[in-house]
Amino acid sequence: MTPAPASAHAEAVPRQQPAPLAARAASVKSSPVRDILAVTARPEVINFAGGLPAPEFFDVAGVAAAFAAVLGESGGKALQYATTEGEPTLRAALAARTTARGLPTEAEDLLVTTGSQQGLHLVTSALVEAGDTVLVESPCYLAALQVFAFAGARVVPVPCDEDGVDPEALDALAARERPKFFYSVPTFQNPTGRTTTAARRAAVAAVAARRGLWLLEDDPYGELRYEGERVPWLATYPGAEDRTVLLGSFSKVMAPGLRLGWLRAPEALRRACAVVKQSTDLHTPTLNQLAAARYLADHDLDAHVATVAAAYGRRRDAMLAALPAALPDGAEFARPEGGMFVWARLPAGANAADLLREVVTYDVAYVPGAPFYAADPDPRTLRLCFVTQDEATIGEGLARLGAALRR
Ligand SMILES: Cc1ncc(COP(=O)(O)O)c(C=O)c1O
Repeated sequence: MTPAPASAHAEAVPRQQPAPLAARAASVKSSPVRDILAVTARPEVINFAGGLPAPEFFDVAGVAAAFAAVLGESGGKALQYATTEGEPTLRAALAARTTARGLPTEAEDLLVTTGSQQGLHLVTSALVEAGDTVLVESPCYLAALQVFAFAGARVVPVPCDEDGVDPEALDALAARERPKFFYSVPTFQNPTGRTTTAARRAAVAAVAARRGLWLLEDDPYGELRYEGERVPWLATYPGAEDRTVLLGSFSKVMAPGLRLGWLRAPEALRRACAVVKQSTDLHTPTLNQLAAARYLADHDLDAHVATVAAAYGRRRDAMLAALPAALPDGAEFARPEGGMFVWARLPAGANAADLLREVVTYDVAYVPGAPFYAADPDPRTLRLCFVTQDEATIGEGLARLGAALRR
């Protein structure tokens, strides 16, 4: 920061440093990976590192019409303060959508949030005291790890395999660590793309019931399915009904810039989350909420999502088809049934973070997997997002990746 110009009176004032940052803020460091990825902002870089929905599929005209209608018809209401819980029309529409997907829900069961990222904050603030333990999947969504660390939680990873979390390990850790909650992205997980099977979900619900464990289910990707059958939400399995928080979001199906999400939770916890939200931002922007409700009333969001999913599915196929030639012998990757990410593992001895330095000089980028682990990172892993670029660009990007890795 540039110092202010010296005033005529300045020389007489004795100076001490202002108070330091809170320990939790000071402990958040810039990561070397973030520094490398900063170069991927160059337009010539084909960037598989981000997690951005493709903007060409945002329904700009439909969203604009919804905003215009709300502003034109609501008088000043759309620009006024509103209740912390959220706009009744939006909560009712979200409850109907949730019920239609197999989880009976009333408008009052929901709290509208400023993105599901805020939902993570609210639940963590409502449940976690410094020193409390939370259990997470290994690996885990990076920004959730940041929320939990910021709250002073001890974050303990639970081993996972291709079917999801290992329920026996979850049970043993829940018994030993007495955690506040288990955080899970059971459908098309970020970063692995993996979907937890129905049998595993039932086992997780049983552990939650037996061990007195809250479940925090984060589901921003569930609507983006390209093959296979939908697997029900955790809250529908016996034992989990009264102890599951479900986070939803419009970011991946409508537009992330609207910052609209929601939280479904049992009453006492939901009320606590509303109190935290009140102190955070009073409420989610009224105009955005009313516009989203209007969009849902006037447009068929499911039809829009089906179009987007068809295109994203083709992009996934393009990436899966080109990966074997791009990755070295001995590398592995999984086939996600939906979502946005492919998770890959390089051969023994490789370090994805070190290689990235070389890879970005070929104008292509991925995210190394190590930061996604709460403990014991696997340095061979990396995440690629397949939705942001079209098929031709994905092919070109993976050709560059192959050339870089062959070096
Ligand atoms: C698993 C997961 N949870 C939450 C979020 C945050 O989404 P939102 O835009 O709804 O805040 C993301 C964003 O990428 C995510 O991957």
